[in-house]
Amino acid sequence: MKNLASFALAIAATLPAFGNMPAYRDTSKPVEERVEDALARMTLQEKINIIHAQSKFCAPGVPRLGIPELWTTDGPHGIRPEVLWDEWDQAGWTNDSCVAFPALTCLAATWNPDMAALYGTSIGEEARYRGKDVLLGPGVNIYRTPLNGRNFEYMGEDPLLASRMVVPYVKNLQALGVAACVKHYALNNNEVNRHTTNAVVDDRTLYEIYLPAFKAAVQEGGAWSIMGAYNYYKDQHACHNQYLLNDILKGEWGFDGAVISDWGGTHDTRQAITNGLDLEFGSWTNGLSNGASNAYDNYYMAAPYLDLIRKGEVGTKELDDKVRRVLRLTFRTAMDYSKGSGAICSEEHYDAARRIGAEGIVLLRNEGSVLPIRPASGTRILVVGENAVKMMTVGGGSSSLKVQREISPLDGIRNSAAGVASVDYARGYVGDVSGEYNGVTTGQNLADSRTPAELIAEAVEKARNADYVVFVGGLNKSAGQDCEDSDRASLGLPYGQDAVIEALAAANPRTIVVNVSGNAVAMPWVKKVPAIVQAWFLGSEAGNSIADVLFGRANPSGKLPFTFPVALADNGAHALGAYPGTRREGSDIVDLEYSEGILVGYRWHDTKKIKPLFAFGHGLSYTTFGYGKAGVSASSMGADGTITVSVPVTNTGDIAGAEVVQLYISDPECSVERPTKELKDFKKVYLQPGESRTVEFTVRPSDLAYFDAAAHEWVAEPGRFVASIGSASDDIRTSVKFNLK
Ligand code: GLC
Repeated sequence: MKNLASFALAIAATLPAFGNMPAYRDTSKPVEERVEDALARMTLQEKINIIHAQSKFCAPGVPRLGIPELWTTDGPHGIRPEVLWDEWDQAGWTNDSCVAFPALTCLAATWNPDMAALYGTSIGEEARYRGKDVLLGPGVNIYRTPLNGRNFEYMGEDPLLASRMVVPYVKNLQALGVAACVKHYALNNNEVNRHTTNAVVDDRTLYEIYLPAFKAAVQEGGAWSIMGAYNYYKDQHACHNQYLLNDILKGEWGFDGAVISDWGGTHDTRQAITNGLDLEFGSWTNGLSNGASNAYDNYYMAAPYLDLIRKGEVGTKELDDKVRRVLRLTFRTAMDYSKGSGAICSEEHYDAARRIGAEGIVLLRNEGSVLPIRPASGTRILVVGENAVKMMTVGGGSSSLKVQREISPLDGIRNSAAGVASVDYARGYVGDVSGEYNGVTTGQNLADSRTPAELIAEAVEKARNADYVVFVGGLNKSAGQDCEDSDRASLGLPYGQDAVIEALAAANPRTIVVNVSGNAVAMPWVKKVPAIVQAWFLGSEAGNSIADVLFGRANPSGKLPFTFPVALADNGAHALGAYPGTRREGSDIVDLEYSEGILVGYRWHDTKKIKPLFAFGHGLSYTTFGYGKAGVSASSMGADGTITVSVPVTNTGDIAGAEVVQLYISDPECSVERPTKELKDFKKVYLQPGESRTVEFTVRPSDLAYFDAAAHEWVAEPGRFVASIGSASDDIRTSVKFNLK
């Protein structure tokens, strides 16, 4: 919390005796005028100070001018607990618990931009209440490999879905005076070798797959800051990268915000000066060993930069641009006095977490409509699995949180069955019994000395006498699972879970598998269990969101934001052997060829005709939806025209539900290779039983274009196109042809 007394004094010192406020402090003045006024008043040292951190998570303002510090905070799913000034470890505050919102894979799985707006508002209020100016999120790196430890923080494999979902999050967050810091720009698609990977990506793939979500966040969302990634691109670190930052972000996209380094992502003063970095955080410089009193003076953009200026080796043009961007960020956040004071741990935030969680849960399989569970008196439910009880809000890396509460899946199921059904529990397997991250501990003691055989025997014995068995397993937030700074080693479930599931399925035909993960997993038992639910890392309300779906209070409407391959080799990033890359002779750089190019995710599976375990866009409901014949407003579209593609959708079941109607476009006559089809729009429609609605999509030439790298522009070639509409990428219900003149 800022020291209000000194703050007030600092302000008083800057107000001229006659009280007329200097422009930079006058919130009625345009931000640009305030920026120029402040810049003109700052000394060279003050300009250098403001472009790098002064602590683990804050940058200095200009005390003399009453320009406040800029406070950043992790993470994309909730507001990180306070750490010591210059440490990762906890500061030991007692008022910094928060609400953990569902991981962003879950948000993406709602396919509902309204949920993204709710998310941005809710997390923004928590950030504002905690006095934070920049939220270090959301993350929108594309899901390229199912092994990437941080996929749970991102929004899936498709650039259109991620683009549509990131924009409302950014807009609503920033409406509260909290800047988004969209990350990690760009090409940070795996965690192994994250500091040394040099992503080798052709321009067409870069522009069609890996940039769109960042571009949408900037141009449609108006993001006020962007976080540079750790990896290299074209042999330059992404945190100071001529191509990504100057040419594309600030040049082509007109980004007027600040580029913030990832923590430790800055490596070179001269590159940082010229290649677009504006605010340096987390550099690994131990100034104390250099005898300096303040390690932060040794940051690449601190004394070394000042030194170059004083020697006349570099000018101050770049410095002024950096300072303008940091001042703009400050005026939009810390010095926007209209921004209100937010709220934390409110019932509204818990309700938002629960709703987003329930709406993002994906019903993958439901043979014989085993779900929803309709408990009658005497119904016996057995819950099995470590993930039914293990806290998931601690761990996973920088998105780890200290929550005020976390409802476990077992808690949620017990709460829902209370008074009607009995609920028993069996561990089933032992996975990761630890539970600590940077000093935040779960306080759970999950230790269990029994052998796998004993654990399975207990679970099977209980399963024989149950009416329902709910196995809650999947991954967790420990290293080598869904966690920053490491990737998984394989696609399969860890800790022998497959054997547990097989044994339970053999013991009880109504075995329901709830997979808690941020990544696809192999499911060799997929045909042996009648029901499978993909539950994400759902945060504080996890158990309630899961129970809402299992017991039918929420009719599942989530759709997969990424493909579940049957085997790792079926995935484009692994089929060609490119992952995790090749170390360069005599260097620590690992060149990682994105050799599948634009064929990421379902684009690969469709084009190579590889049947997935569960497809991108797949998700069942407790009701059913019928699609009529697609229609088109005209048989052809001019280069500057549009056409409307429409389809009647009916709820053909007996309960209300929501369907995500997906529009894919194919370009069968193109002069260049294109994926079989690409998602170009979607709409989520809520229908009562028997209700029909005609869903309309407006198709523009830009929806038909591919990126012509040679011409460096988007091109829509005249000719025949096909609009395919369906309930999943592998469940196209109707198609219609049209021409582009
Ligand atoms: C981490 C992460 C980044 C996070 C930052 C601060 O290494 O890569 O996402 O916001 O450092 O914790």
